[in-house]
Amino acid sequence: MEQSQDRIIIFDTTLRDGEQSPGATLNVEEKLKVAHALARLGVDVIEAGFPYASPGDFEAVQKVAAAVGTENGPTICGLARATKNDIKAAAEALQPAAKGRIHTFIATSDIHLEYKLRKTRAEVLAIVPEMVGYAKSFVNDVEFSPEDAGRSDPEFLYQVLEAAIAAGATTVNIPDTVGYTTPSEFGALIKGIKDNVPNIDQAIISVHGHNDLGLAVANFLEAIKNGARQLECTINGIGERAGNAALEELVMALHVRRQYFNPFFGRSAESTEPLTQIDTKQIYKTSRLVSNLTGMAVQPNKAIVGANAFAHESGIHQDGVLKNKLTYEIMDAQSIGLTDNQIVLGKLSGRNAFRTRLKELGFELSENELNKAFIRFKDVADKKKEITDWDIEAIVNDEIRQPPELFRLELVQVSCGDHSCPTATVTVRTPDGKELTDAAIGTGPVDAIYKAINRVTKVPNELIEFSVQSVTGGIDAMGEVTIRLRYDHQVYSGYAANTDIVVASARAYVKALNRLYSALQEAENKETVSTK
Ligand code: KIV
Ligand code: ZN
Repeated sequence: MEQSQDRIIIFDTTLRDGEQSPGATLNVEEKLKVAHALARLGVDVIEAGFPYASPGDFEAVQKVAAAVGTENGPTICGLARATKNDIKAAAEALQPAAKGRIHTFIATSDIHLEYKLRKTRAEVLAIVPEMVGYAKSFVNDVEFSPEDAGRSDPEFLYQVLEAAIAAGATTVNIPDTVGYTTPSEFGALIKGIKDNVPNIDQAIISVHGHNDLGLAVANFLEAIKNGARQLECTINGIGERAGNAALEELVMALHVRRQYFNPFFGRSAESTEPLTQIDTKQIYKTSRLVSNLTGMAVQPNKAIVGANAFAHESGIHQDGVLKNKLTYEIMDAQSIGLTDNQIVLGKLSGRNAFRTRLKELGFELSENELNKAFIRFKDVADKKKEITDWDIEAIVNDEIRQPPELFRLELVQVSCGDHSCPTATVTVRTPDGKELTDAAIGTGPVDAIYKAINRVTKVPNELIEFSVQSVTGGIDAMGEVTIRLRYDHQVYSGYAANTDIVVASARAYVKALNRLYSALQEAENKETVSTK
């Protein structure tokens, strides 16, 4: 069997494990936008969802498979527990993909066997080849994961992996499900697998890890040195609990430290051949898209894609960088697609210039989306003399991140200051078409707006996060607001950008409320159907 052992395979699971982050839920359209961006980024495999989990997940995997899983595009993967129903659903959803992969898993740690699966090791050892074989009856490309491998008995793990490969698994993925291992332990685990699984040369070793101790990326880099050739990661490291290993950190570590890693691939240290197929210049844009669509803000000091990742604050550093960039910079901001904050368009720019710039920035908008974005662009250009790429990106993300518009903000007005009580008046159009106006006072203007909106919409919720960031520098900069609301253990997010942060705050709140309200309605409809 031919294997890509000479470079790293990037397996992106933003749409599956990443989307499991609280509040990161994406609708099908949003998933398609992310999938297209991942394809432009050059990932080898997109894990698009867990088809058996819900009809929505099934549809998303199917649509991603049809739209992005082309002959020259990435492999599209669907997750399935080691059961026939799961595997069959994954196979069906993947049908439209030119290259489809079924990823099936079952836990192997004693703690999972005893408390979660209530199965013996012998039972698990029998299920694995049966289910890998079943997946193989649908597709040739089958990946098997022993869940919680990081805490499994290595001797049992070797037996399970041997059985999976003998049954046809072409990739065996080693998950550190609870983010427990340290880099040297994880590296040793991969080495143990290489040395003790007799048929391991017939499969690619993959790694998957969570960041509970902040070690996921370090663990993967150690795994590479010991023979792992596929990395399962997410954009911005989003995912369950503390998240997954971050794609951008792994890719840039392999890019910047290529000379260090080259010998582990049998190359000379000086080889300039890239270790991944990723177009690093797409990293920043993809990070922003995922952050805006999921409502998961990127912390300013986040490696590679954080707002401060390329900023030099101290005078000594600034002086050094001005004399020679290499004094304090190990990579060029342009290598991740962070261009200088160029002025590209102004208020006289026409629709064609706007459309062309959007294309250059990698946005593929429908005619309807383009119309909406252009109206917003003109509006912003009236208030802000110079429109940069970052402004355009914020406008587009604001316009395309549209949850169903059930409540619509028609008016927001605030009065505040150091000698007055912050008061807000809002007018909201309700889903049944009524225009309702109300006012409220609050501890600040945003608090007052949210209270007024709550009085009108009457949607129960708890505000758990409110963040404002400036899109560019300058007094006339646009502000981006991200909101996260909680109701009944679920989190709903909203994003908006505007030159007026009070307006952006109100719009982001209404967007999050619309997501919450549509989830409540969906749940209500299901209940009505099931009680009929
Ligand atoms: O963390 C995990 O173990 C997983 C598996 C399904 C691969 O996400
Ligand atoms: Zn996981």
